Amino acid sequence: MSLKNNSKTVILGTGGTIAGTRNDPDNPNIYNSGRLGITDILAAASVDVSGLEFQDVAQIDSKNISLPVWQDLLKAVTQAQQRSDVGAVLITHGTDTLEETAFLLHALGPWPKPVLLTCAMKPADHPEADGPGNLADALALADNPGLSGVHVVFNAKAHHALHVQKTSTDVLQAFSSGEQGVSALKTPAGWQLQPLLLAELLLEKPSQTWFLQQSLWPRVEWLTHHAASTPTLIQALLQPLDSAPPLRGLVVAGTGAGTVKPSWQSALQLAMALGVEVWLTSRCTWGRALSQAQQVAGTLVDLPPAKACVALSLHLMAQDESASAA
Ligand code: SIN
Repeated sequence: MSLKNNSKTVILGTGGTIAGTRNDPDNPNIYNSGRLGITDILAAASVDVSGLEFQDVAQIDSKNISLPVWQDLLKAVTQAQQRSDVGAVLITHGTDTLEETAFLLHALGPWPKPVLLTCAMKPADHPEADGPGNLADALALADNPGLSGVHVVFNAKAHHALHVQKTSTDVLQAFSSGEQGVSALKTPAGWQLQPLLLAELLLEKPSQTWFLQQSLWPRVEWLTHHAASTPTLIQALLQPLDSAPPLRGLVVAGTGAGTVKPSWQSALQLAMALGVEVWLTSRCTWGRALSQAQQVAGTLVDLPPAKACVALSLHLMAQDESASAA
């Protein structure tokens, strides 16, 4: 039950392993994501639902997240934030693209009341399901009066949306936010908020109205530079296709400080000459492209590639919105 100012927590279900069930009871690791609705997840986790409101926004494996689901989620979060009887929003989500959804919501904020996301590495009917504990932890953190913004609650830590990344596929501590991004720690005395020094997100973003009106996510692709890579993928992406809208943006996860070999530099220069926006980051988990290593024009971006793709799409939407107003 949510206690903060006697206000409610609104829970929005989207699917994921936290909503998954096993196919074969003898093999707990074979399961399908997103099978349970939020009512069944809360029942399976024995959550006391007084003081809670809940709603299914989607029931998907988060690898299938799409613009319409993000739009529905944004609408639901906005509505909940505007209500005086609501103190926090909690989203249940798959782990695989959780950092993208968290980043998107952060970028489209600010949110004066906390928007928490939680998830699980084991399905709801697993003998060692971690979803119930994460849900209970997130509900307790939702009551913390000092919290605002977007955070991922997982395995006794809360991570800020700007920094959190899924860093493991097979251990329970599957998320990390490096040294800078832990926003709260669960202690025997309860949740303790941690001081956060967040860089301002210098990102052009569309208005919520424009974002909600769009039927297409601007086409942005992500390429990782590696020792044996050739520029042929970049050249292929520049070809017009009947089956896809034209390429608008490229996120390049360069080696080390964001470097790419000369053949990539030429191919990227051609992409930019054809009007493709190129953003440069690093393939290192905690690395970023550094200006002193920059060999190709393009925008250096202080985000990991998955979040850079979301940010670049928002940037392109913002440009479209400005152009439509001109
Ligand atoms: C998903 O992201 O929906 C599947 C994987 C997970 O939740 O752990």
